Amino acid sequence: MSDKKATLTVDGLDGSIELPVYSGTLGPNVVDVGALTGKGLFTYDPGFVSTAACESQITYIDGEQGVLLHRGYPIDQLAENSDYLETCYLLLYGELPNAAQQEHFVGTVKRHTMVHEQISTFFNGFRRDAHPMAIMCGVVGALSAFYHDSTDISDENHREVAAFRLIAKMPTLAAMSYKFSVGQPFMYPDNSMGYAENFLHMMFGNPCEPSNISPVLAKAMDRIFLLHADHEQNASTSTVRLAGSSGANPFACIAAGIAALWGPSHGGANEAVLEMLEEIGDVSRIDEFVSRAKDKDDPFRLMGFGHRVYKNFDPRAKVMKEAADEVLAELGIDNEPLLAIAKRLEQIALEDPYFIERKLYPNVDFYSGIILKAIGIPTSMFTVIFAVGRTVGWIAHWHEMISGSYRIGRPRQLYTGYPQRDYVSIDGR
Ligand code: SDX
Repeated sequence: MSDKKATLTVDGLDGSIELPVYSGTLGPNVVDVGALTGKGLFTYDPGFVSTAACESQITYIDGEQGVLLHRGYPIDQLAENSDYLETCYLLLYGELPNAAQQEHFVGTVKRHTMVHEQISTFFNGFRRDAHPMAIMCGVVGALSAFYHDSTDISDENHREVAAFRLIAKMPTLAAMSYKFSVGQPFMYPDNSMGYAENFLHMMFGNPCEPSNISPVLAKAMDRIFLLHADHEQNASTSTVRLAGSSGANPFACIAAGIAALWGPSHGGANEAVLEMLEEIGDVSRIDEFVSRAKDKDDPFRLMGFGHRVYKNFDPRAKVMKEAADEVLAELGIDNEPLLAIAKRLEQIALEDPYFIERKLYPNVDFYSGIILKAIGIPTSMFTVIFAVGRTVGWIAHWHEMISGSYRIGRPRQLYTGYPQRDYVSIDGR
């Protein structure tokens, strides 16, 4: 790794501690603090703001420059020239596929798009008004019941089949969670269609007539999946890695990732952004909401703004904003009021010292909801769409960890509770 060293001196500790410093291909050096335990010390970093939990070669983010690379390729070049399944191949195998590899990969995904017929009965246990993310947490975890006995995570072939099954089945399960909520029959995948086209077919098609999916909408949907594919060690990916470090099967790990993604500070933000724009309702009310976002006594935050890593524009937000303009124009929805509110809100926020000082820029969730709404996706399905796109990132990180050397993740703590004390019987309390 490197011959660099960090020297730590601690009050009350004799001498100093030498810690190895490692350099990656890009990004900050890291200090290996493993030796601290032997000196009776832990590091303390709530929220893991300054903690590298692993080594990875999949995605690199430069928050200051607003750079996002997948296996070295910039996200804007992938969004312009690639598609979701090609990006899946890149994330999983590390290189862009040649024509034969791409044909085999796409063909294999197509052969896994159906789910076991018994899965359909799981849905009947939910209320019709269940949030689709609640359903996805349940049914994706339940996939373990169908494949647990054939997922030997130490077997490379089993790991690869699990990856294909998850990438292929997530759109099917997502569409089923939507169909269940509107009381319509489930649609089987149509493998003559592309990945995003097939998803829209399963979402909006019906058994009584052939689907006629707009190529414009299918391309926009594919780009949404691509832009959400992976994002380094975010909360849900770190959850998948931690679950996987115990040896849990990949379906259970992905279900854990879905649960972590659901939070409004993470993947739930896209749903929250649209609800916020609808609550603002008119550009004349933007100042009121910006004031609330700056008020420490008001829990309201501008959803879709800010990021733990990006202290510049999220490069995905830039692509998403361009896509929103294109999709709305091609659909003839030129005067979408929510887009007008979003653009004005962005302009006001980026001129406001509060946001400038804190380097709060629009993130991936700020514009995605506007495109999803234009495509006809209901707001409650927005985070499900995020989960479908992110599944390849989760499984790529899981695979990278499991196929290398790893230990069970087990953080420590700063304990500030009671010192040891003796039990007091109830009549003595
Ligand atoms: C995603 O990690 C990833 O890569 C995630 C993701 C991915 O692809 O996986 O990129 C996807 O989750 C994008 C983020 C979506 N979430 C939102 O849009 C929700 C709104 N944003 C935030 O809640 C917040 O910005 C976070 C959660 C995204 C980041 O939180 P941090 O890094 O812990 O930052 P912080 O809460 O410490 O905020 C720093 C300051 C604070 O003010 P001070 O206490 O310093 O005065 O900025 C303020 C915060 O109050 N702040 C905001 C704000 N976000 C931060 N103030 C108003 N509105 C906001 N949106």
